[in-house]
Amino acid sequence: MLKDFHFLTNPHRFLFTLSLLLLIGVVLGISLPSNGEINSVQTGPSLTILYSGNTLEEIKPCGCTPEADFGGLLRRGTAIKEVREKAKDILVLDAGGNLKGTSPQGRLKSNLIANGLASMGYDAVIPGENDFAYGTGFFQAEGARGWLASNLRHAKMEFQEIIVKELSWGARVGVIGLVDDRLFDDPSHQGITLTPPEEFLKARLQGLLQENKIDLLILLLHVREPLGKKIFEDFPEINIVITGHTEDPDDEEIKDPIIQKGRGLFFVDNRARRLGQMEVRGIGNEKKISINHAWLPLNESTEDDPSLKPSFQRYKENVKELFLKKSEIKKKQREATPFLASDACTACHEEIVHTWKETRHAHALETLREARQSYDPECLKCHVVGFEKGGYLNDAITPDLGGVQCESCHGPGKEHSKDPSVKYGKLNEETCKECHSKARDPSFSFEPYWERIRHRE
Ligand code: HEC
Ligand code: HEC
Ligand code: HEC
Ligand code: HEC
Repeated sequence: MLKDFHFLTNPHRFLFTLSLLLLIGVVLGISLPSNGEINSVQTGPSLTILYSGNTLEEIKPCGCTPEADFGGLLRRGTAIKEVREKAKDILVLDAGGNLKGTSPQGRLKSNLIANGLASMGYDAVIPGENDFAYGTGFFQAEGARGWLASNLRHAKMEFQEIIVKELSWGARVGVIGLVDDRLFDDPSHQGITLTPPEEFLKARLQGLLQENKIDLLILLLHVREPLGKKIFEDFPEINIVITGHTEDPDDEEIKDPIIQKGRGLFFVDNRARRLGQMEVRGIGNEKKISINHAWLPLNESTEDDPSLKPSFQRYKENVKELFLKKSEIKKKQREATPFLASDACTACHEEIVHTWKETRHAHALETLREARQSYDPECLKCHVVGFEKGGYLNDAITPDLGGVQCESCHGPGKEHSKDPSVKYGKLNEETCKECHSKARDPSFSFEPYWERIRHRE
């Protein structure tokens, strides 16, 4: 008897069996109840909503580990196209947070992302607090549309207050967008005036619903999470609230939506690793709205969007140019470098150097070359010795400092090599985690990893 129910206690079997039952259900045309909804309308036309947010400049995930290989603008392009082909009525929305801050490479990314959003045909996008880092240019890319910020006035450009879409069966959907006034407090926000989100809703919500004859209202928020929850509770007239903004870009938690009778609160996935998808039925006549939700994981089975590839290629060339220019300027550092490269350790630690050469650490720069990203500072950081700490500059100037070498873990070895009695090189697992970080290598654990690369003498 017990044996027959083994699948209940074995999580993999159980999931497998469950998916099999679901598949049979789908084949037989049995529809599933929507999240938390019982008396909902399950038939009739539906509106598909795709949503993203907190992209934080993630154009292409690094591919460092399969567990972290989610998201990226290029895959998102493909996923949106695929869903668009099947859906009659669709809205593609973004809850802001595309950029991270100011840097020359960030500026290159901002161009790529602005063009990407335009080409993916977003219906509504709200700005995040970092999106003004390079002025208003980010919002004015060729083909850009859908920029929305109901409570924001900018001296140099106009954001829309509401975007209305009439669906194929005549129902009307409104999208409004609010940003948190308390996040907009640095010099890049000059020329902006904001009404606090709740104040705006108290003053304008009823008017907007009536003036535009709205059947379903969607609110995009770029606010701290507690405010998002409060707004969802305080304004039941709003059917769908999608909230973005994060205080921790490396936060890996996936927050599932809160779906109640006819409405829902949705949290975007950090770095836009997954695209949220909803099917909304009952909009219009019945006023019995039901919402089904699913995450679309943008993993290696999603190809990069071919129409975004040329601009990504251009971006990579620009990054390379920027990188080479910058490393030439720093060339003088070469003489003053405290790093020696592993050959300098061979004389006294021959066996250790020998075992290290067998590990993937020794080939970490080749890995980047194969990925055609060996000129990207954002990758080099963890794949060479002492990047931006007086070590690796580029292939031509520092050919010996590529890869993860002794000094990547133990620190600069110049003093110790001159005088081995100098205390040197004590480290702990925190050193590993600078590179084997939560975001790049979520399953890192010191003991088994160290076992794989341990020095042998
Ligand atoms: C001239 C010989 C010599 C060279 C060159 C040398 N070491 Fe050492 N190293 C030693 C000796 C001897 C010790 C043991 C010192 C002791 O126990 O006091 C040692 C110890 C160490 C330790 C352990 C330190 C500790 O506190 O436990 C590390 C790590 C280390 N070396 C790394 C390196 C690296 C990396 C390089 C190359 C950049 C290097 N060494 C180059 C001779 C050398
Ligand atoms: C400077 C960044 C950096 C540090 C510090 C670092 N690693 Fe790595 N590690 C990497 C990179 C990059 C790779 C992937 C190399 C590749 O495949 O190209 C890697 C790969 C590995 C692998 C797979 C290698 C293999 O041959 O199977 C193990 C295991 C590993 N690291 C363990 C550790 C441990 C343990 C520490 C700390 C004692 C550590 N790493 C510190 C960057 C780092
Ligand atoms: C924060 C440090 C860090 C950064 C930044 C980083 N990597 Fe890595 N990368 C790692 C580590 C650690 C590993 C090894 C993971 C493991 O095997 O456990 C790795 C492994 C890899 C691998 C090997 C995957 C495999 O198993 O074959 C590729 C490819 C790679 N990285 C590409 C990139 C690219 C491209 C970038 C820049 C977009 C990048 N990395 C940025 C830390 C980093
Ligand atoms: C991935 C990180 C990492 C790299 C790369 C690395 N080491 Fe180590 N090394 C460690 C850790 C971890 C220990 C053990 C902890 C400790 O004693 O500090 C250690 C210990 C040592 C010791 C002390 C003796 C021993 O065997 O425990 C020496 C000497 C040493 N390393 C030399 C080297 C040399 C030389 C290289 C380059 C060929 C190198 N290490 C590369 C992480 C690294």
